[in-house]
Amino acid sequence: MQYVGSQVLKPTHDGCIIKRDGSIIKSVKGEIEMENADLSTLDGVGPAIASKFRSAEITTIEAIIVTPPRELSEKTGVGFNTVLKIVEAARKSSGLDFITAEELWKKRQEMLKLSTGSKSLNELLGGGIESQAMTELIGEFGVGKTQICFMLSVIAQLPMEKGGLDGKVVYMDTEGTFIPERIFEIASGLELDPHETLENIFLARAYNSSHQCLLTGHLFKFCPENDIKLVIVDSMIGHFRSEYIGREHLAERQQKLNSLLHKLLRLTEAFNLPVVITNQVQANPAQFFGDPNKPAGGHVMAHACTHRIYLRKGGQGTRIAKVIDSPSLPNNKVRFKITEKGIEDVEEQIKKNEG
Ligand code: GTP
Ligand code: MG
Repeated sequence: MQYVGSQVLKPTHDGCIIKRDGSIIKSVKGEIEMENADLSTLDGVGPAIASKFRSAEITTIEAIIVTPPRELSEKTGVGFNTVLKIVEAARKSSGLDFITAEELWKKRQEMLKLSTGSKSLNELLGGGIESQAMTELIGEFGVGKTQICFMLSVIAQLPMEKGGLDGKVVYMDTEGTFIPERIFEIASGLELDPHETLENIFLARAYNSSHQCLLTGHLFKFCPENDIKLVIVDSMIGHFRSEYIGREHLAERQQKLNSLLHKLLRLTEAFNLPVVITNQVQANPAQFFGDPNKPAGGHVMAHACTHRIYLRKGGQGTRIAKVIDSPSLPNNKVRFKITEKGIEDVEEQIKKNEG
């Protein structure tokens, strides 16, 4: 049962919401879309405020709940105190203030898993790339981060029984390395219509870190409206590293990066989708033994990402993926390979030779 303002609302199986008077609020797959009538049922919201929220692309109750009030106020131009009241009303309406552990368990049962194309990589990830979570792919240039993202963008479109999410994809490309021909090739390998596959991937080319922040903000409107089931940011940190050079800018950089990462994290929860980001490595001069590289982005990156996967090159053209930080996955490693079909398992023979 959902409550909006004083009205008792009932969600139907297809995600529409029925008000007590029998009228139906339009909804996008379970998200309560704020039509004029709907928003104004929230305490403190009249048509003028509703329209300001819409102009700022805050169009769902979920978006109001997960966005910090200060940010809502800045984006909409609505006074901070009024925003606080609206947020409180939105929280009440969703009944999300306190949930029992049982309810959380149920929410996690709705978690979806997206296949990577490789059985062993899926096993490493506990079944696949999780929704309601942010997965970070870390590794040096040429290791295959972008290739994995391409593969995921194609598989996400498959039905769930085939390891997909039955939806469309947003691919935020910050480095201009998105290659449609490669998607075409991977889709053909999976016997999908390559043109249809390309149609279902929305490319967002971010030209600098501010642009990246702006585009990320748009996702709260864009995702529910366009049936987006996967969001990729490749790479998350490239612009930040090249724009904020020197120690004196480090604090500002980390603050901006942190706010952006948390936006993405909120997106995963609001719309039950996986966000996959890529990250580079940087040399760690203090490291004398083992791998001298460490993930870029410091503690901010480490804390925000749910699962951190470190990739490196193995023998015979293979790649090794290792979980380096995750609340639910053991720190195992597996081997996979990049082929013209995308991401695949390594034959047993190679595994044996390599030990
Ligand atoms: P940066 O973005 O530079 O940090 O690297 P990345 O980790 O994103 O690397 P990317 O995913 O671009 O991987 C490139 C590597 O994938 C190439 O060096 C190839 O080894 C491999 N690769 C790309 N396309 C193909 C292909 O069609 N077939 C095969 N076998 N390998 C491919
Ligand atoms: Mg890349």
